Amino acid sequence: MEVRLFGALRRKPPPERCRRCNRMRAATSGGRSVLLISPMNGLAPAPPHKADRILLGSLGGGVEYWTFRHRAARRFAHAYMQYPAMMVPELQGELLDAARAADTSVRHVYDPFVGCGTTLAEAMIRGLDFAGKDINPLAVLACRVKAGPYFPAAIRRKTELLLDRMATDSRRTIDVSFPGREKWFDDSVAVGLSRIRRAVCGESARWARRFFWVAMVESVRLTSNSRTSTFKLHMRPQEELTGRRCCPQAVFCETLLRNIRHMEGQAHYLRDRGLLRRGHYTGAVDIQLGDSSQNLEGSPKQLDLLITSPPYGDNQTTVPYGQYSFLPLQWVDLGDIDAHADAALIANTHALDSHSLGGSLRGASDAATTLAEMSPAFRRMAVDLASASPNATKRLSAFCRDLHACLDPIVGQLKPGALMLWTVGSRRIANRQVPLERILIDMLEARGATHVASVPRHIPNKRMAVRNSIADTMRSETIVVLRNGGH
Ligand SMILES: C[S@@+](CC[C@H](N)C(=O)[O-])C[C@H]1O[C@@H](n2cnc3c(N)ncnc32)[C@H](O)[C@@H]1O
Repeated sequence: MEVRLFGALRRKPPPERCRRCNRMRAATSGGRSVLLISPMNGLAPAPPHKADRILLGSLGGGVEYWTFRHRAARRFAHAYMQYPAMMVPELQGELLDAARAADTSVRHVYDPFVGCGTTLAEAMIRGLDFAGKDINPLAVLACRVKAGPYFPAAIRRKTELLLDRMATDSRRTIDVSFPGREKWFDDSVAVGLSRIRRAVCGESARWARRFFWVAMVESVRLTSNSRTSTFKLHMRPQEELTGRRCCPQAVFCETLLRNIRHMEGQAHYLRDRGLLRRGHYTGAVDIQLGDSSQNLEGSPKQLDLLITSPPYGDNQTTVPYGQYSFLPLQWVDLGDIDAHADAALIANTHALDSHSLGGSLRGASDAATTLAEMSPAFRRMAVDLASASPNATKRLSAFCRDLHACLDPIVGQLKPGALMLWTVGSRRIANRQVPLERILIDMLEARGATHVASVPRHIPNKRMAVRNSIADTMRSETIVVLRNGGH
């Protein structure tokens, strides 16, 4: 078994009894409790909580098992839209199953870095309630479409009407204007995309417009002059552009018909399990657009389980979600995604990335002291990086500062003792591996959480765009399991 077990004790406090499982356990300094599940701490290993034993049993299997090589498929709603660094659906599904086997009361799942909603779709097919948050409007669009409603017959009728509107529109006007429009879209493509846009805007139901916008996003991605082999905005080579003919309407139509089939498949799957009532999912789904350093709005603050994968590092030097989303979001009506979507986030190609975790280096050096006090792993890495370049330390500090700012609101939404499953990658800065797993554990332990286990996995290549430089340095990640404090 390759699960690594932890629970290092700093000093030996008197034993106390767990109120949940009535077992004896030890308390660390600062009153925090840890499970004696590590033979590495030199003390006689005590049995973990029953729930954690069940969980650890489910998490066995080793690196290859959790890599899901050749065992992953994006079906139904998972296949609506491409998004950078999507999680493997089967992985998230098995993690949900493992957590529920350990705690059968789990009902309400939270993903504060929800991306295109892989965990959401897996939670839905298990009939769970779900809350998700993301700073990127494109991610929120994908999630809200996945959440439903599921009206396949209606979307087919509406699609016929939309295709009629599009076919009879012969206007040559270009309806959007943004910096670099001429660079990224040939006029003929922009005229075609404008006809799609007008046809979508002619639909009266917002749920249907959102479904159409997802197909529009794919059409923009495939017909722009930017390469599809990288998440960064990067012009296709001139020889490829010369003589290139693309018809956005044809791409849109093909994507839309494919997505309708996915919607039908998903609706069928949910209905068979009694999870759809008149086309609506029977559970509660709440997707919020915003920064996870802010509390969820209107949340009951008692969510049962956290499953998430935060970014690997700042977007600029890891995965540029913002650049990837810049062109599609110029064509989608932001108001249809969310009434509070801020156009400033797509004012230029870097705005969204600058607002995401680690996006601003300003004040990063000041944060380093607090972070170093909280996390020995951060301190060691900062010292190591200081000899490499001051900018490298700043980059590390800025990302960790922003992650740290998200942790109080995140942990505050969870019920005491709730499980947290974080999948984190260790990117490199200045040619050194950042121990993000360890830094995150330090920061959460400082908030009373207990580290239960760490499960390493490889990242299958296909998850990363081939020519994205991060693919060369990021080959593995770790599923870090912690238990929220206060139980
Ligand atoms: C690794 S992705 C999540 C992928 C997701 N699990 C999926 O399968 O699509 C990380 C996400 O964190 C989001 N993000 C970055 N900074 C954020 C912040 N401050 N608040 C909320 N979301 C943020 C990014 O927009 C991105 O969608």
